[in-house]
Amino acid sequence: MSGTPPAGTITLAGKTVSRLGLGTMRLTGPGTWGDPPDRAQALDVLRQAVHTHGITHIDTAHAYGPHTVERLIKDALHPYPEDLLIATKVGLEAWPAPYKWTPNGDPAYLRNSVEGSLCRLGVERLELCYLHRIDPRFPLAEQVGTLKSLQSEGKIGHIGLSKVSTADYQEASKDVAVAAVQNVLNIHDRYDPVQELCRDEGIPYVPYRPLDAGSAARDGALATALAWLLQLGPHIAPIPGTSNPQHLADIVRAATDGGAP
Ligand SMILES: NC(=O)c1ccc[n+]([C@@H]2O[C@H](COP(=O)([O-])OP(=O)(O)OC[C@H]3O[C@@H](n4cnc5c(N)ncnc54)[C@H](OP(=O)(O)O)[C@@H]3O)[C@@H](O)[C@H]2O)c1
Repeated sequence: MSGTPPAGTITLAGKTVSRLGLGTMRLTGPGTWGDPPDRAQALDVLRQAVHTHGITHIDTAHAYGPHTVERLIKDALHPYPEDLLIATKVGLEAWPAPYKWTPNGDPAYLRNSVEGSLCRLGVERLELCYLHRIDPRFPLAEQVGTLKSLQSEGKIGHIGLSKVSTADYQEASKDVAVAAVQNVLNIHDRYDPVQELCRDEGIPYVPYRPLDAGSAARDGALATALAWLLQLGPHIAPIPGTSNPQHLADIVRAATDGGAP
């Protein structure tokens, strides 16, 4: 049974979910590549997030592993609780060592990625699917247009954008209803004009790397880091990541004690 949502709730992709989400990029092997060193612990983090701590927003991507994390989520949590939102992303290709990420907005690649995510997550629809990166080789309208076609086919519920500028957001918004934006924002990297735009337009803003990849979690600064994000407004839904159940409990406590309005 889920507990009380940490840091309150937000409406995201048509669902009421906990404002505190869980980022899953680091539930992999070293360098965000391959299987986790301790698979049982990775499954525990996912299960405890949902069943113990009341987190109902999990953020992932087909590129994490690649594919590893989507499979872990299914193994840990399927059949999914009704109130759980799993957000995934397509359009960023992960290559093995030397590990690198490459945007890929080819319509065929986006389509195959969505089909793969549906299968790995064991769902009929991706409730929230972000375009992970804009690929400069293709017009943005074509990339979001591909996701819109998949939405019309019932394979995607809502479309989000990731790592975008205000100009990108405005251009994409001409073609699709943007359900959420995911950009980097944390106590050390404090300014993103897209955050202000989302606040003004009432669009959920999902800060990624909210603990500055862990540095904002050390030296007792965890509660301050999360409180700083949450006080920016009710449109903020941070997704701190951890592979450690104790760190997860610390995050939830910090968000509940220090971040709730
Ligand atoms: N859209 C995008 O392009 C994009 C890019 C990057 C990330 N993301 C998303 O954002 C999520 C979060 O970003 P992130 O994982 O890069 O960085 P983050 O959440 O800022 O920091 C994660 C790091 O913090 C450490 N940590 C967490 N709690 C801690 C605690 N209580 N004490 C000490 N260390 C702690 C974790 O290590 P332990 O595992 O040891 O706890 C992990 O290495 C990702 O998981 C992913 O879902 C999206």
